[in-house]
Amino acid sequence: MAAAGKFITFEGIDGAGKSTHLGYVADLLAARGHTVVMTREPGGTPLGEKLRELLLHEKMHLETEALLMFAARREHIAQVIEPALKRGDWVISDRFTDATFAYQGGGRKLDIGKLSVLEQWVHPHLQPDLTLLFDVPLEVARTRLDATRTLDKFEREEAEFFAATREGYLRRAAEFPGRFRVIDSTRPIPEVHKLLEEALASI
Ligand code: TYD
Repeated sequence: MAAAGKFITFEGIDGAGKSTHLGYVADLLAARGHTVVMTREPGGTPLGEKLRELLLHEKMHLETEALLMFAARREHIAQVIEPALKRGDWVISDRFTDATFAYQGGGRKLDIGKLSVLEQWVHPHLQPDLTLLFDVPLEVARTRLDATRTLDKFEREEAEFFAATREGYLRRAAEFPGRFRVIDSTRPIPEVHKLLEEALASI
């Protein structure tokens, strides 16, 4: 039987710089001979991408938002993540469940116990092998965002929301130190690359 693949997730507040490094990590893994599947949340499937449109642009109750995140995730796991891991591919997902704990739990202050119930329901046996958390102070993230594009529903939130979201991420990292690597994303790109290489060498 082929060895099962590995599951790597990229996390961080908007503007933390994770998108800059996705391609670098994918190339490193491909150079190591792995077949790499790149995907993202919310999204990753045709249905998930429709839900993403709603999630990023429609106003809704905060529990509806959390439920739709997990609904899109259920589909994503069934259609993309699990089949790829079974084939022995390496999956890189731009965000996963830690984002729900950070944004809906931290940022929007939704009860963490409810999110844990959903996590247990939707993926009781699946967790990333490695989670790369790109961490920067809020002001840095803000400057990077304002420079690049038209902002979506989340990106238009106030500083307080992002401070709480960042705290939410750091709490998850403290809770699961085995799989999290917190990357200081204020450092120059070559230094971040080095940190990423070290993190990948650990799995
Ligand atoms: P993002 O991943 O930053 O994509 P882009 O780089 O195209 O903007 O956008 C997704 C947004 O969705 C981001 O603001 C965080 C938010 N989000 C949640 O609030 N909860 C979640 O569970 C996930 C996966 C994302």
